[in-house]
Amino acid sequence: MRCFFSSARQLYTDYVATMRAVVAVTSVLFFNVAFSPIANAQQIKSPAQYQQCAACHGASGEGNPSLNAPAIAGLSQTYLARQLVNFHSGIRGSDSQDTLGQQMQAMTKGLDKDKDIPVLVAYLANLTPVNVAQQTQGDLTNGTRYYQGKCGACHGGQAQGNEAFNAPRLAGQDIDYLKRQMHNFATGLRGTHSEDKYGRQMAMMAKTTSGKELDDILHYIAVQE
Ligand code: HEC
Ligand code: HEC
Repeated sequence: MRCFFSSARQLYTDYVATMRAVVAVTSVLFFNVAFSPIANAQQIKSPAQYQQCAACHGASGEGNPSLNAPAIAGLSQTYLARQLVNFHSGIRGSDSQDTLGQQMQAMTKGLDKDKDIPVLVAYLANLTPVNVAQQTQGDLTNGTRYYQGKCGACHGGQAQGNEAFNAPRLAGQDIDYLKRQMHNFATGLRGTHSEDKYGRQMAMMAKTTSGKELDDILHYIAVQE
């Protein structure tokens, strides 16, 4: 009997211990599921291919003005794919004076166009677009007028981009980056390659504005969400 009781007690002790463990594990699981924030775009795990990019473009594709690296989160799939393929094939970033374009071109050389670029594009296009904080000055009334007259038809009224015209989102982007691109287009550092159909289109437009007018346009873009 004694023996029966002690083994029964042992069984009971084991049972209690097991149940405690089960409750502990279950509640850990429950807490993780119930209280972890719903996975949003920024928490999508970045693919291995993105690790080397994060050094300049930031962990969430938010860009880094001090490294001249633009924001790339949430740009359209087609625009991202075209730029990465253009850098990779030398259509963008080949001009000897385009040092920053060359820097970015070098980053794409190790990528497999068919395997790595689609993975990067899918990841980046899914991230929430950022608004790079910036201070610009200009005349908003004139900027609005010039922007709507010269740019809005392709880039959208709020600079949100327009897939139908292959024109990327400009809102939220680092204004110094946009200004440099306008200069690059206007002076032939970008958008002159014979295969750069859309870059050539934009290069034509960039030649139609400069100086104070361009600053006003950029100011209008900077105040868009
Ligand atoms: C050494 C810093 C650096 C690294 C690392 C880097 N980039 Fe860049 N990236 C730049 C710079 C600078 C530019 C702007 C080039 C220019 O002025 O034309 C750029 C431009 C781009 C653009 C064009 C954005 C636009 O609006 O047209 C894309 C897309 C991009 N990078 C994606 C990537 C990806 C993907 C990786 C990783 C494979 C990567 N970058 C790694 C510095 C970097
Ligand atoms: C005819 C349509 C069209 C008009 C009008 C137009 N753009 Fe563009 N823009 C484009 C296209 C297409 C691209 C993408 C080029 C590429 O693929 O490299 C572009 C690219 C750009 C870029 C580069 C963005 C980046 O992330 O690197 C800037 C900056 C820009 N446009 C500013 C402007 C401004 C400012 C105006 C008005 C003065 C304007 N665009 C008018 C079609 C247009």
